[in-house]
Amino acid sequence: MDGSESFTVDHMPDPIASPEGQLDPYPWYQKMRDTAPVRYDETRECWDMFQYDDIQTVLTDFDTFSSEHDISLGNESEDSALDLGETMINRDPPEHERLRGIVDEYFQPGYLRQFEENFEELAHTQLDQILADGTEFDFASEFAAPIPAIVIGEILGIPREKREILTGVRQDGDNTQRELKEYITGLVQERKETPTDDILSEVIHATPDGKEMTAEEIYNFCALLLLAGSHTTVTLLTNAIWMFTEHDFISDVRVGAIDLDTAIEEVLRYQPSVHTVVRTATEDVALHGNTIQEGDRIVAWVGSANRDPRQFDDPETFDPERKPNPHMTFGRGIHVCLGAPLARLEARTVLRVFFDRISDVDVTTDERTPITTPTLWGLQTLPISVRT
Ligand code: HEM
Repeated sequence: MDGSESFTVDHMPDPIASPEGQLDPYPWYQKMRDTAPVRYDETRECWDMFQYDDIQTVLTDFDTFSSEHDISLGNESEDSALDLGETMINRDPPEHERLRGIVDEYFQPGYLRQFEENFEELAHTQLDQILADGTEFDFASEFAAPIPAIVIGEILGIPREKREILTGVRQDGDNTQRELKEYITGLVQERKETPTDDILSEVIHATPDGKEMTAEEIYNFCALLLLAGSHTTVTLLTNAIWMFTEHDFISDVRVGAIDLDTAIEEVLRYQPSVHTVVRTATEDVALHGNTIQEGDRIVAWVGSANRDPRQFDDPETFDPERKPNPHMTFGRGIHVCLGAPLARLEARTVLRVFFDRISDVDVTTDERTPITTPTLWGLQTLPISVRT
């Protein structure tokens, strides 16, 4: 496939298209794993895959299952979705290796540790502002929402005063996309003339294969980080509080009776903010009695893999002490989430600050409204009342 085909796997399968289905797709996943682990959906014109081992194969065999497709993360029905152009996430080797190789080392846990204090301070500032107004607030929009975009800005060397450019990415569509592009293009020019010690300067001056990244590639890279790393992480933070309250683990996690890192992994497995990863077959493949044909698109349901009893004991139980926990929420293989160490560090640091200052949390409504994009899963809001 030549990559020019547009990416149209943007509809929910009928059985989980309702708000109830999106809040709890897990009974459907179970049924599909047991009765139709690989099936073709005529409506969405794609294959769906539900079992852990099959998904592992699809994600690791990049020769047979290509990542090349146009992509815009966000809801394609909103005009606010950003087109990503060519980035590592939608390229196969060798181009993928070139693009990822430039930045890989800056997303390793060791390099990221230097930002821990910034993240802590950011979480404190958020809480100071919120608690000044009272102890009832929406955890998702008021506390969590701005943090990941500002964190990415910090890593790229974008000052906090410019946070509205970063956090507004999906709010007013084209304007924001244009503003972001203008701003980043200007910043790239500045860093070219006067390099600083941030990732952006490194990326600009890196010359793998003797070739610098083009201005377009640099902008696409920044947009990819913002799109792949903002809402996913907001949702991880929100899902953590949702799961810890719903399963009554707030106090154990708060006092350290349950290890926070281990509990975060279980949130990622049990209530992932990403449920699907998409590939295209580069040749005919026989699987479970079906033939996937060259050029067919495949939706690999990592949300289902995470609940596969062939892989996890008692998968429908939220167990914050589960170990090992080889969930697939960050994908697998060469495209495994570049930002996974960042998302983990951010979640640990921000939740630690939250629990240091908050002694108890109650969710103040029984209503749960799901996010309605096929790429992002979780709650739109989580109204809470806290005790300090
Ligand atoms: C809970 C938060 C996150 C989740 C659930 C998540 C999930 C994923 C998944 C499933 C993939 C694999 C896609 C594929 O194989 O096609 C991926 C790739 C990627 N993610 Fe994340 N992500 C998260 C946070 C982040 C953050 C914080 C960043 C960066 C700031 C980030 C940047 C990326 C990039 C650049 C890729 C492409 C890697 C490649 O193609 O080699 N993600 N992510």
